[in-house]
Amino acid sequence: MRGWDDLYPLPVPPSWVPGAAVGILSLHFIQKLLFPYFWADLRYLLKVFTYGLRMEMFRLQGRVVTVLDKFVRLAEKQPHKPFLIYEGTVHSYRDVDRRSNRIAQVFLQHEALKKGDTVALLMGNEPDFIHVWFGLAKLGCVVAFLNFNVRFTSLLHCVCSCEPKILVVGADLLGTLEEILPKLQKDVSVWIMAKDSGFPGVHTLLDKIEAASEEPVPVNRCSANNLKSAVLYIFTSGTTGLPKAAVISHLQILKGAAGLWAFGATSEDIIYITLPLYHSAASLLGIGGCIELGATCVLKKKFSASQFWSDCRRYNVTVIQYIGELCRYLCNQPVKEGEKNHKVRLAVGNGVRNDVWREFLDRFGAVKICEFYGATEGNICFMNHTGKIGSVGRTNFFYKLFFPFDLIKYDFQKDEPIRNKHGWCEKVKKGEAGLLISKVNAKNPFFGYAGNKRHTEKKLLCEVFKKGDLYFNTGDLMVQDHDNFLYFWDRTGDTFRWKGENVATTEVSDVIVMLDFIQEANVYGVSVPDHEGKAGMASLILKHNASLDLEQMYKQVVTYLPSYACPLFLRVQEKMEMTGTFKQQKFRLVDEGFNPSSITDPLYFLDNSKKAYVSLTKELHEMILSGKMKL
Ligand SMILES: *[C@@H]1O[C@H](CO)[C@@H](O)[C@H](O)[C@H]1NC(C)=O
Ligand SMILES: *[C@@H]1O[C@H](CO)[C@@H](O)[C@H](O)[C@H]1NC(C)=O
Ligand SMILES: *[C@@H]1O[C@H](CO)[C@@H](O)[C@H](O)[C@H]1NC(C)=O
Repeated sequence: MRGWDDLYPLPVPPSWVPGAAVGILSLHFIQKLLFPYFWADLRYLLKVFTYGLRMEMFRLQGRVVTVLDKFVRLAEKQPHKPFLIYEGTVHSYRDVDRRSNRIAQVFLQHEALKKGDTVALLMGNEPDFIHVWFGLAKLGCVVAFLNFNVRFTSLLHCVCSCEPKILVVGADLLGTLEEILPKLQKDVSVWIMAKDSGFPGVHTLLDKIEAASEEPVPVNRCSANNLKSAVLYIFTSGTTGLPKAAVISHLQILKGAAGLWAFGATSEDIIYITLPLYHSAASLLGIGGCIELGATCVLKKKFSASQFWSDCRRYNVTVIQYIGELCRYLCNQPVKEGEKNHKVRLAVGNGVRNDVWREFLDRFGAVKICEFYGATEGNICFMNHTGKIGSVGRTNFFYKLFFPFDLIKYDFQKDEPIRNKHGWCEKVKKGEAGLLISKVNAKNPFFGYAGNKRHTEKKLLCEVFKKGDLYFNTGDLMVQDHDNFLYFWDRTGDTFRWKGENVATTEVSDVIVMLDFIQEANVYGVSVPDHEGKAGMASLILKHNASLDLEQMYKQVVTYLPSYACPLFLRVQEKMEMTGTFKQQKFRLVDEGFNPSSITDPLYFLDNSKKAYVSLTKELHEMILSGKMKL
């Protein structure tokens, strides 16, 4: 399953008022229709209404209140309440407010930043990520969160695609900076979170923060006059090609921030964030959600399965954020005494499988698991508001009024929606997997991607059911059962998910074909039992007379790709199979997987201990399936 966030859609009264009226009039009928989930559905919808109404009030009063405004207000109202706890140090609301003021002051003084300029942020999880983010937001800048696992050309591509004026780099990522610095455009001014810089022309931030004033910058710098203007860029792999910067508006931040509240969290809660902040789950749902509640969050540099529960006990954590992989890693930890001894009551996230979900509840006690579905750039979301194991949510008559979506028939071989003889798409029957598409209109806008307009257009499907209609293609296949529960099925297109990150297959093949012995590479994901997502596999065509250099191949992928994107398996083929439309054939390859007993082509496996790819023998295959060989 893919990215996150757009989890809290907003209704606009004029359209739902008639719906609600109909609802009240035909309550009897509806209760039958929705039975037995009537009250759960109603409670959930009421929350959606309340929030939508509140937003509508702001709109009618001509007030635009952003999540940042809320934060500044909280810093006045509850200055001493802990906002962030990081490695045992408490940063109160006032501390974070003041330090972000200092950062805003530094840039105000040293850089000619205009409202709306973009600043790219390359930093791991640490309080300064939040200080820099808020500081720049106070100057009215658009902040682009870069994924620090991405390197070299891909990272350069990400930086360039959002055309930043400034790049701010964390002290622990100077090695990554060094790789791209020579090729970075000259007009990007680079700042590092250090006191002295070893690089020519690179500015230092830490010393200047200490010297800066902690007074707020003029408020007109950040005041938003339009909820739909861009405030953040968050990179997603979309369904094709290199990562793309999804445009995040105030509206989406407000929606994301309401997620925890909608799941029943309160200002008393302590939220544990171990996911990377460059994803919308941690930044919008986690940090944003914490501000919406006025609560406290415990931030972790990097998720650690062995420290997870001890951290939860130490900080009295009550809410955790997860992805499917995280729950599985926790379940794979050796059983310890007193595992149920913690205060965690709520887990919010997505992608947990049924078996892991059950085991998690068994082992770690009565934690309420709130599964949701949403894409960073998408305009639709679902929440499991009824507690059906495995389901991402439930839809009903009213939900569809606000968030018109459909599941349509999909051709897995050609990797595109099926059009009938009249050129229209068709809805699937209940119980069948279909491509999730959601209607784009004024109420459910799609903000697109920064830079290239083509990317934005590619995510849209037009003329779906009738002339002139427009849908957002989520790229995800879902199934709706007879009780209207929705289940995630698979991803389509040129990406797969591994270790909680999306991998764009073209990005991987671009790196492989740089090698002089490779003619062509076809990259896809294959399922491995007991693992979330898909493991990367590349089918290769070698150049004429060339041989596969297993060590060089290894070196190439680990140097240029984040570890989660390195193909675990290689398959060497004589010739590339194409589809009817001359696209690389993936469907059959995915299906055949990596079993040396059934595939006659040579197969190889990425062996980190040998620093090379090694022949994938039947024994090795057996060890991978049994879990003896860790992936
Ligand atoms: C956690 O809660 C316990 C009991 O409610 C309290 O004594 C302790 O001080 C709390 N710890 C922290 C770090 O807040
Ligand atoms: C989601 O499902 C789980 C599984 O039983 C349930 O415990 C939880 O309460 C549900 N989430 C919400 C928000 O109701
Ligand atoms: C490939 O090898 C064969 C025999 O070793 C040789 O005759 C041929 O010229 C080579 N082809 C290329 C393109 O190098």
